Amino acid sequence: MEIRTVALKDYSSLRVGGNGQLVVATTIIELVEALMYAKREGLRARVIGEGTNTFFANKTSDILFIKNEIKGISLELKATGYTLQAGSGEHWDDIVQFSVDKGLWGLENLSYIPGSVGAAPVQNIGAYGAELKDVFVSLEAIDLENLNLVDIDLEACGFGYRDSIFKKQQGKYCIVSVTMNLSTEARPTLTYKPLDTLTGKEYLTPADVRELVISTRKAKLPDWREHPNAGSFFKNPIISVAQGEALRRTYPEMPIIPAGSTYKIPAAWLIEHIAHMKGVRVGDVGTWPEQPLVIVNYGVAAASEILTFSTTIITKVKEATGIELEREVNYVQ
Ligand code: EPU
Repeated sequence: MEIRTVALKDYSSLRVGGNGQLVVATTIIELVEALMYAKREGLRARVIGEGTNTFFANKTSDILFIKNEIKGISLELKATGYTLQAGSGEHWDDIVQFSVDKGLWGLENLSYIPGSVGAAPVQNIGAYGAELKDVFVSLEAIDLENLNLVDIDLEACGFGYRDSIFKKQQGKYCIVSVTMNLSTEARPTLTYKPLDTLTGKEYLTPADVRELVISTRKAKLPDWREHPNAGSFFKNPIISVAQGEALRRTYPEMPIIPAGSTYKIPAAWLIEHIAHMKGVRVGDVGTWPEQPLVIVNYGVAAASEILTFSTTIITKVKEATGIELEREVNYVQ
């Protein structure tokens, strides 16, 4: 096991963080070994994937970062359909590409989401009308209390909008593999714009959907390699129907989307029309001009600047509407 001192900003797509102690785990055994070492040394262990939803504090000397590089993809045909199992250190979009190449339906709407397979269940990744939970079967994880390997099924994951037990109980589990159920039978989800333009298309393939998702994402969202960012910085807030109806009277133009027995408000709209912070930049931190839900590090922003900037947005939205925006990106300190 080799522990290195690294610049953590190189492990964050927002490019924010100081120096930290890091070890790479390519197998479950290496992962457990690193976890045991951290326990012995009284360090907090923090497993990281590709860092596309994370930024780090300047000082993290009591943390041992474990970079998860547990790979492996296997596809099996079972009575229930095609079962795809992937190591949590795989790049998420590689498994989407793999499944689409095989003509399998299920992951196409989730194309081109940055990050690793292991991060996908943590926030129940979702895009264009689909969520991981729609195809999820189970996962294997290390229980960090006793370092045993456990199986966790769909129900036990407690998936919700950008939510799961892994998000609620950070530091309880480390996910090592994820199993999903895919199908050769066409089952497209085309409700979300602009995928609705594919409705009724003859001989529609998962690759057609993937192509449109990728071009849409490329047009709207900045590539973190060119403009460091962590995707949507906030969740879209969920509010009560009563609060939504009251807001509708004050802001008749506010988009209010029914979501079960609640309402969902696009955070991007609140940032643009309420906080008036679309495309606004303070020093090296700003919102992306095409999609203000994305906060970009335009230079050498520190974690404190990201936090201050995002707090300004939260305060402005809260004061005008009573809605409290919640950060979706993880800040490790
Ligand atoms: N809007 C504005 N101004 C803008 C952009 C959007 O007012 O500049 C409003 C519009 O009303 C628009 C609405 O926001 O209809 C929704 O915008 P969009 O379709 O771009 O999606 P989103 O709700 O902002 C969510 C996910 C994205 C995902 C897209 C597409 C969250 C927090 N974000 O964004 O996920 O790609 O839907 O499904 O749920 C991510 O998590 O990193 C991410 C990019």
